[in-house]
Amino acid sequence: MIAFTLNGAPVTTTARPTTTLLDWLRAERLTGTKEGCAEGDCGACTVVLEDGATRAPINACLAVLGQLHGRTIRTVEGLARDDLPHILAQADGTQCGFCTPGIVMAAWAHTRQGGDAHDALAGNLCRCTGYRPIVEAMGRMADDGATAAAFAPAAAEFGDFHAPVTLAAAVALRRAHPQAWLLAGGTDLGLRFSEHREHPTVISLMNVAELRGVAATPAGIRIGAAEPYAALMPLLNGAFASLRPYFARLGSRQIRAMGTVGGNLGTASPIGDALPVLLALDAVVETSVRRLPVGDFLRGYRRHALAPDEIIVAVELPMPDGPLLAEKLSRRHDQDISAVSLVACLGPRPRIALGGMGPMAARAPGAEAALTDHGRDAFRAAAAALAQDFAPMDDWRGGAAWRMAAAQGLMQRLWLRLAHPDLPAEPFAVPA
Ligand SMILES: Cc1cc2nc3c(=O)[nH]c(=O)nc-3n(C[C@H](O)[C@H](O)[C@H](O)COP(=O)(O)OP(=O)(O)OC[C@H]3O[C@@H](n4cnc5c(N)ncnc54)[C@H](O)[C@@H]3O)c2cc1C
Ligand code: FES
Ligand code: FES
Repeated sequence: MIAFTLNGAPVTTTARPTTTLLDWLRAERLTGTKEGCAEGDCGACTVVLEDGATRAPINACLAVLGQLHGRTIRTVEGLARDDLPHILAQADGTQCGFCTPGIVMAAWAHTRQGGDAHDALAGNLCRCTGYRPIVEAMGRMADDGATAAAFAPAAAEFGDFHAPVTLAAAVALRRAHPQAWLLAGGTDLGLRFSEHREHPTVISLMNVAELRGVAATPAGIRIGAAEPYAALMPLLNGAFASLRPYFARLGSRQIRAMGTVGGNLGTASPIGDALPVLLALDAVVETSVRRLPVGDFLRGYRRHALAPDEIIVAVELPMPDGPLLAEKLSRRHDQDISAVSLVACLGPRPRIALGGMGPMAARAPGAEAALTDHGRDAFRAAAAALAQDFAPMDDWRGGAAWRMAAAQGLMQRLWLRLAHPDLPAEPFAVPA
């Protein structure tokens, strides 16, 4: 039976393991957690995953009960402090109030996580009110100091939902169920559960020890395939510093608390934000059977090189051999996947990779060859060469001509970054 701690009390349930937490909470009459979009965009369903002293806001519409076995969840009904809604209300921060429970939970997590309050709110949409009073109110909120029990992973099985804790067990399950869905953070796959689609056996990878952890070494950064982006963020310093504002725009705190680099590779989307980074750094993908360069892993539109019984274990980002620069354009600044992205590692042999310019994220050989030095003319020539490197797609995120012009603009923006290293990360606010 699935068991977890909810608002400080143990609960068990026989509900289907792929029931979303949101559906389950509301069926249990814990209706403070709201359903806005049911696809991770609006944050009305935000609850907090607690683990010892850490708090992570997550979207209850994407997380499923099987993933939460053994974990600790807090919803708006379980807040011991009742001042947060009042602080927000006094800040003139609410009108209809539909978004308020989600914002309260994001704010409660923020009192522990710290950082930029705008970033903490990027995953919460409010359709009636301005955000400024809410952001200002969040600056006045203090951490209440409460902690939870630390999560201790244990192997579990609930019918057709398996949650192994070792790679050997995960691979054995995969061999026994070749059609199974591998579930990491569920920020892509969770949409299918949220839409109540039928599914085969599910193998949850979140608790597999070999797939967890992220470590910086002199050689670079090793990221466990099932480790959420949130754990990677603090390591994006020094030579990797430019990746921090880039990854800070991957979804929201809610998405980054669950979403993983392994899931970005597994989806192999042409606009997956991690993929140009991995390509520009010549990253190595470690699977349960081999190690391969990311350029050999990606095979086409949502296609990759994994065999049916193969699981991504980790990704190794080598230390950049020159300046590393990363740019992203999306229709909304926050909480939106890229329309076009460009990442460049400008060492002795420049490597430049783009997303959103074809069926898969890919290197730009013509632009790389044109970049003979770091002068403005070389960047202009590299921008022009992109026209030979790519035949962009045409979709609702951007037409082909716009994508090419945008990519060429981003290419020249790299020169500006090199020439003016003190430019803020976001000097060119993209209109909503
Ligand atoms: C609101 C919202 C905003 C988003 N914004 C962005 C964005 O800005 N940029 C961006 O790139 N993405 C974005 N995404 C997409 C998503 O968050 C990312 O692609 C994320 O990296 C997926 O990781 P996950 O662990 O949640 O994958 P899951 O949903 O668990 O899995 C995705 C796929 O990868 C496979 N997979 C997962 N782990 C493994 C493994 N170890 N081995 C083999 N296969 C595996 C799964 O079987 C599945 O096919 C967004 C999603 C939402 C809902
Ligand atoms: S209901 Fe909108 S993010 Fe979950
Ligand atoms: S107050 Fe109405 S959606 Fe935020």
